[in-house]
Amino acid sequence: MNSTPDAIPDLLDKVTNLAKRRGFIFPSAEIYGGFRSTYDYGPLGVNMLRNVKQAWWRSMVQTRSDIVGIDAAILGPPAIWAASGHLETFTDPLVDCKRCKERWREDKIDGVCPNCGSTEFTEARAFNLMFETQAGPVEGEGATAYLRPETAQGIFTNFANVLATVRKKPPFGIAQVGKSFRNEITPQNFVFRTREFEQMEMEYFVPPADADEWYRYWIDTRLAWYVDLGIPAEQLRLHEHLPEDLSHYSRGTTDVEFAFPWGFDELEGVANRGDYDLTQHAKASGVALDYFDPTTNERYTPFVIEPAAGATRAMMAFLLAAYHEDLVEGESRTVLRLDWRLAPYQVAVLPLSKKPELEDVSREVLGILQPHFMCDYDVTQSIGRRYRRQDEVGTPYCVTVDFDSLEDRAVTVRDRDTTDQVRVPIDGLLASLRERTGQS
Ligand code: GAP
Repeated sequence: MNSTPDAIPDLLDKVTNLAKRRGFIFPSAEIYGGFRSTYDYGPLGVNMLRNVKQAWWRSMVQTRSDIVGIDAAILGPPAIWAASGHLETFTDPLVDCKRCKERWREDKIDGVCPNCGSTEFTEARAFNLMFETQAGPVEGEGATAYLRPETAQGIFTNFANVLATVRKKPPFGIAQVGKSFRNEITPQNFVFRTREFEQMEMEYFVPPADADEWYRYWIDTRLAWYVDLGIPAEQLRLHEHLPEDLSHYSRGTTDVEFAFPWGFDELEGVANRGDYDLTQHAKASGVALDYFDPTTNERYTPFVIEPAAGATRAMMAFLLAAYHEDLVEGESRTVLRLDWRLAPYQVAVLPLSKKPELEDVSREVLGILQPHFMCDYDVTQSIGRRYRRQDEVGTPYCVTVDFDSLEDRAVTVRDRDTTDQVRVPIDGLLASLRERTGQS
């Protein structure tokens, strides 16, 4: 019987351990004792993270004609961050524990030091989360640069460039996926909150009168994306921010929240940013960032609806939601029930034995599948153990090549979730797997 994620004790530890043991996510700089909650994505993790970003890009850009993509610089001059308001207001309240001297984010500790239990703290002071650095060989004025704390600003600063080159008119969007950096006071919970992370953001420019309608549209659309990729609807919910909790740019924000092991928490924010960003950048740069509608002869600054997701945080949620422990023929197994679009390997080709006579046909099968699916090829250990290893990393299909394959030119396809096995002719294998994955 399957257990639901919230019935699995120590789920976070189990997923963190699995992620390290099987090559999804390693603590960064581990041979030097680790480095401040940074993480590296291993051979399986890099596949899965790419799949998360690809699934987002497919739904936001590839399958739509109203959204285009960009890839802007990570380093930016202070002018961008002064205009966006980040230099002044992108801060968290920092307090020092008077007893043990640890530093904490005041709004995350309920007045009690998580380290020593003291309730005495210094006055909170505003701590800016941006990483500052120097661009070029000279230090000081003129060389200061910041690592972007959100990908969004590179979209706003390119608004006129994109408008001039792709002939879009509101409503239209610009999407971007990439790294962002925040000097978080308390990074925590594995890759949930880290100082270096990846975002998937889209700024959707609309006539101001239509902003509310598009705000609701994007909340629903983004929630549905997670469900489509396998997160059960009951593990997701929407949380609308109170006016006093809104970011400096927002007229309304609704978070898509996921049932993390510590409770519901933010997966993605959908915000109505109004005309804040375009107006600020137009004022600061002197470049007009508005839209002239030739049909109405009206010039206006579009409002922006922004679905802003974390790629690394989403990957963590997909792993948590997929983690199951069940029994197969009386034996317990760990299985990641990942959607095939997210799984690090979609197919594993497994020769039944290491005997050389199976190698040619196994390699032939691999060659047929590799251009279409990310494949693993594994010849070590018993077939039962290899199935378990593939279950544990979420591989939806195992293709076993055995001695009969040499005679009948057929292989066995095993389904990860049902563990059902069927015999499929090699000539029809690609079509069969395409059909199982809804691609034909
Ligand atoms: N442009 C708007 C913006 O950046 P945000 O709510 O601060 O909004 C959007 O960030 C998403 O980015 C979050 O919902 C989360 O998924 C991800 N994110 C933000 N800070 C993060 C961090 N320190 N570590 C991992 N993911 C983070």
